Amino acid sequence: MRIDIISAVPELLESPFQHSILKRAQEKELFEVVVHNLREYCPKKHRQIDDYAFGGGAGMVMMIEPIDNCIRQLKSERNYDEVIFLTPDGELFSQQTANRFSLLENIIILCGHYKGVDERVREHFITREISIGNYVLSGGELAAAVVVDAIGRLIPGVLNDETSALSDSFQDNLLAPPVYTRPATYNNWSVPEVLLSGHEAKIAEWRYEKSLQRTQERRPELLKK
Ligand code: ADE
Repeated sequence: MRIDIISAVPELLESPFQHSILKRAQEKELFEVVVHNLREYCPKKHRQIDDYAFGGGAGMVMMIEPIDNCIRQLKSERNYDEVIFLTPDGELFSQQTANRFSLLENIIILCGHYKGVDERVREHFITREISIGNYVLSGGELAAAVVVDAIGRLIPGVLNDETSALSDSFQDNLLAPPVYTRPATYNNWSVPEVLLSGHEAKIAEWRYEKSLQRTQERRPELLKK
């Protein structure tokens, strides 16, 4: 899978994909993330990517031309399954959406900035609008890091143990159960006995019960889905 991210502040995306699971995924060539600096797609000389809003009002608006140039260039090189715009007024991102995106071949992600983007970009180029939560970030870059991370780790072959994504919180609308590691007792705080028993069926049952209980207590709305 290849993800192309279009950004006005590409420096913000230099590090997030260079470590741990996503780094390994790229080394194994299961996954490629390419960040494009929007300013490089401006018409020659002035590297302007935003302008005043027609009709007045505070805040600058991202211009259509650099975005058009960048998307056109990318589309001339390969086919894209989705062109995603990250914006607080988009559809709320979820594990289910991450699962679906992880099966795609090529995705473009456009990071929003300033007061927004010329509406014609949204009308003519964007296929999905995604928000990572009900709060406003100063730009879409951190949201892009979240979305790409959530997708990347789900790509088949990326996680060492394929089942470990299946036991993530939200995969089956349940939160994950508690986990423990050594030492078995610390400060007189002990690990639940059943986890030390070696009895696989009992451990699975305990984990399921804890998942259910945790979901009931913290996110009861998930159980209604
Ligand atoms: N840009 C600014 N805020 C955002 C959010 N909550 N989700 C996605 N993109 C954003």
